[in-house]
Amino acid sequence: MTTDYLSLITKHTQGEHPQTVPAFIIHSALVTKKALDIAQNYNTRHPDVNIDRRLLEEMGMLHDIGIFSTENPDLHTTGQGEYITHIDRGAEILIAEGAAHLAGACRTHTGITREQAITRGLPLADENHMPETMEEEILCLADFFYSKRFDSLFYERSAEEVREHLRPYGQAAVQVFDDLAAKYL
Ligand SMILES: [Fe+2]
Repeated sequence: MTTDYLSLITKHTQGEHPQTVPAFIIHSALVTKKALDIAQNYNTRHPDVNIDRRLLEEMGMLHDIGIFSTENPDLHTTGQGEYITHIDRGAEILIAEGAAHLAGACRTHTGITREQAITRGLPLADENHMPETMEEEILCLADFFYSKRFDSLFYERSAEEVREHLRPYGQAAVQVFDDLAAKYL
């Protein structure tokens, strides 16, 4: 089963801010390419492991589709709810679109542990928000390297810069990155 992610992106970005839509597409494409590169390199070292590259591509291009359902002045999105809820809203959108197999990409791509969600009081659904499949883990790892800030869309963080970015969220957040990096990079 393949999902026509280009049509889904068009459908769910109708009427959104003229800067946010291309920024979303640039970010999604860069994260997708990073994820596919990580998968390819991993497969070079582990040729017997099956990573679904088409699935990874669809997940990468749709993982942030929920941002338009949240309110974020920096991104000019005018939905409702805190930005972090884009991970649950995106999953809901994809389930409603008959693409439930991609919902995990939305829900888990930020690598938020249950403990972090509780400690930080995040308004998230009481569901798992940690990546489980290899494709989810690789997407989560790839997403750490890129921001959606309009002034640095194309900047790829170094591993140390990723850690610096995550440190304010606690050691557990840095550990999620370090564990994924140790496994896949
Ligand atoms: Fe992202």
